[in-house]
Amino acid sequence: MGLSDAEWQLVLNAWGKVEADIPGHGQAVLISLFKGHPETQDKFEKLKNLKSEDEMKASEDLKKQGATVLTALGGILKKKGQHEAELKPLAESHATKHKVPVEYLEFISNSIIEVLKSKLGGDFGDDAKGAMKKALELFRNDMAAKYKELGFQG
Ligand code: HEM
Repeated sequence: MGLSDAEWQLVLNAWGKVEADIPGHGQAVLISLFKGHPETQDKFEKLKNLKSEDEMKASEDLKKQGATVLTALGGILKKKGQHEAELKPLAESHATKHKVPVEYLEFISNSIIEVLKSKLGGDFGDDAKGAMKKALELFRNDMAAKYKELGFQG
């Protein structure tokens, strides 16, 4: 489950490119999530009424939420697995307040991989993709463990 130093380097190298445009990547991730799994959209009071992809693209709220997600995720990835302090409040809010099942975290992980592949192209090769997948699995696994502690059957 852990990542090697070389794998963390691949993850953070790719992330450096995402940081050139956090809102743009965040917007693309949420649109991919909502298109692939419409039930996830209902969790967002402010975003659930956006119907077409054009409406989603035009929404400042969606872009803002996308940036919030990726900024938090970047902070977690940079801890290279030592993310207890960052994960705890996130697990608490997503379990008890937003009620986001682990399955939805898997959906958004897949969207993140897809968006990175399409936006970074050759800069996100198979080795970087494999490392990012592992990092997102570690994140989900630790979120799931916290969910369990909190008694959320996510
Ligand atoms: C990579 C995974 C994710 C990260 C890093 C993340 C991060 C965040 C952060 C930092 C916030 C604001 C602070 C807070 O409430 O804790 C937030 C809010 C929220 N998240 Fe997530 N999130 C993730 C995945 C998801 C998923 C998959 C869903 C639902 C399908 C979701 C639903 C929500 C909702 C409903 C809010 C409140 C939005 C509002 O203020 O209107 N999150 N998220």
